[in-house]
Amino acid sequence: MIKNICCIGAGYVGGPTMTVMAYKCPEINITVVDLNKNRIAAWNSDNPHDIPIFEPGLAEIVMKVRGKNLFFSTDVESAIDKADMIFMSVNTPTKEYGKGKGMAADLKYIELCARQIAAVSKSDKIVVEKSTLPVRTAEAIRSILDNTGNHVKFQILSNPEFLAEGTAINDLLNPDRVLIGGLQTPEGKAAIEELTAIYAHWIPREKIIQTNVWSSELSKLTANAFLAQRISSINSLSALCEKTGADVTEIAKAIGSDSRIGNKFLTASVGFGGSCFQKDVLNLVYICKTLGLEEVAEYWDWVIKMNDYQKHRFADNIITTLYNTVSGKKIAFLGWAFKKNTNDTRETPAMYVADTLMNDLANISVFDPKVSPNQIFTDINHVNGKSDEENQKQLSFVSDPYEACQNAHAVVILTEWDMFKTLDWKRIHDGMMKPAFLFDGRNLLNAEDMTALDFHYKGIGK
Ligand code: UDX
Ligand code: ADP
Repeated sequence: MIKNICCIGAGYVGGPTMTVMAYKCPEINITVVDLNKNRIAAWNSDNPHDIPIFEPGLAEIVMKVRGKNLFFSTDVESAIDKADMIFMSVNTPTKEYGKGKGMAADLKYIELCARQIAAVSKSDKIVVEKSTLPVRTAEAIRSILDNTGNHVKFQILSNPEFLAEGTAINDLLNPDRVLIGGLQTPEGKAAIEELTAIYAHWIPREKIIQTNVWSSELSKLTANAFLAQRISSINSLSALCEKTGADVTEIAKAIGSDSRIGNKFLTASVGFGGSCFQKDVLNLVYICKTLGLEEVAEYWDWVIKMNDYQKHRFADNIITTLYNTVSGKKIAFLGWAFKKNTNDTRETPAMYVADTLMNDLANISVFDPKVSPNQIFTDINHVNGKSDEENQKQLSFVSDPYEACQNAHAVVILTEWDMFKTLDWKRIHDGMMKPAFLFDGRNLLNAEDMTALDFHYKGIGK
C-alpha cells in the first residue's frame, strides 16, 4: 500500500495532478517538489490568486488539501527518501542544441531527476513517468537507476497525463481513461496494481487501461499527434474555403456529424499552440527518422508544417488587407494565451503573428485577462531575440481591452476568451481608425453581427 508519494516538478502537469490525487486519496501524503523556489513559494501562498498556475477550480482544491495531505517543498531529497512512489513531472522541451536539435525531446531534466532518485533512495520504490517521453525512455531511466543506485529495487511505470489546460481539473476528476504501462513481470504487474488502486479511488476500473510500458509511452505521442493532425487538416481546408467561398465552420459541422469522424477538434484557427502538440509531433518525427522510417516521419512532419503555414498565412493576410503595409499602424491583440482559461503562453500563435507584424514595423497593443506583461516580453524575445527595451518600442501591454483597441487600424483575436464575446463592439469600432478591420483568428464572433457594426470582418476559412 502506497502511503507517501513524491512528485518531482510543480508545473502544469505535476501541480494539478497531485492536487486532485491528494483530494481524492486523503490517506496518502503527497509532497510536490521543485527546484524553482519562487514556484514553490507561490504554491504555498495564502492568496489563491498567487497559485502559479491558473486553472478553473484548482485554487479552491489546493486550499482544501494543502497542509493536510498535500505539501509543496524545495527539499527534493527528503521527499524522495520518504516516498514509496515517485512521479516524474519535469519538463521535456524540444532540444535546442546538438543532436536532434529542434526535434528530439530534451531529456536532461529527466536524467537529472533519475540520478537524484538513484542517489537518495534507500528503500524500494515505484517510479512513474508522468511527463511525455519518447518511446523507450523507461529503459534509459532503468539503466540509470540500476547502475547508479544504492542497490534498491525500482519499478518503472509509464502513466502519461492526458489533461488539457483550461479544463485540467475536470479532466483529472473525470478522465476518458487512465493509462498505466509497466513491465509484464510479476513485480511489474504488482506495481501497475499499486498505481491502479490509487486511481480507483475515484475512477471506474474499466477506464484504467493497463499496457506494456512501450505501448503506454507511444500512446501518449499518438494521441497528441492525432489531435494535432485534425486541427492541421481542418486548417488546410480553411485556406481552400477562403479561395472558394465555402465556409469552414459549415464544413466542420457537416463532416463532424458523421459519427465516424466526430465533431470535436474541428475548429479552424490561427493554429494550435501549447506545450504538447508541436513538441510531441516533432518527437514522433524524430523517432521515426532515427528508426529509418522516412515516409512515416515526413507524413507527421506535415502536421507541423501546415500549422506554421497557418500562422504565417494569418499574419500575411493582415498585412495584405491593410493595404500591404502595417508600418507605424497600431494593431490591437485581444488574447495572448495559447487558448482560453489558461495563463500558459508556450508556443502561442500570438507570438509568431506579433513577430511577423513587428518585422513589418507595426505597433502592437496586447490585452489578455490572465497573461502577465513580463510574459509577453519573454515570449517575443524567445522569437526575435531582441531585448525588452527594443521590443517595447513596438509592443505594449494594457490592462483594458478598450484601451488596446483605441485608435487601432485593426483588432486581432488570438485567444477565444469568453469575455471577448460580450465586449461593447460598437464602442470598440467607434474608437478605431477607419476603415476598422477585425481579424478573428478563433472564429469567436458572429461575422454578420460584426459586419452590421461596419467592421471589415475576416474570420478563418470564411
Ligand atoms: C493537449 C491535449 O488535448 C491533451 O490531451 C494533452 O495532455 C496535452 O496537449 P492542451 O495543449 O492543453 O492539451 O490544449 P488543447 O485543448 O488540446 O488545445 C491545443 C491547441 O489547439 C490550442 O492552441 C487550441 O486553441 C488549438 N485547437 C484546439 C484548435 O485550434 N482547434 C480545435 O478544434 C481544438
Ligand atoms: P509541465 O507542463 O510538463 O508540467 P512545467 O515546465 O510547467 O512542465 O513544469 C516542470 C517543472 O519541473 C518546472 O517547474 C521545473 O522547475 C521542475 N524541474 C525540472 N527538473 C527538476 C528537478 N531535477 N528537480 C525538481 N524540479 C525540477
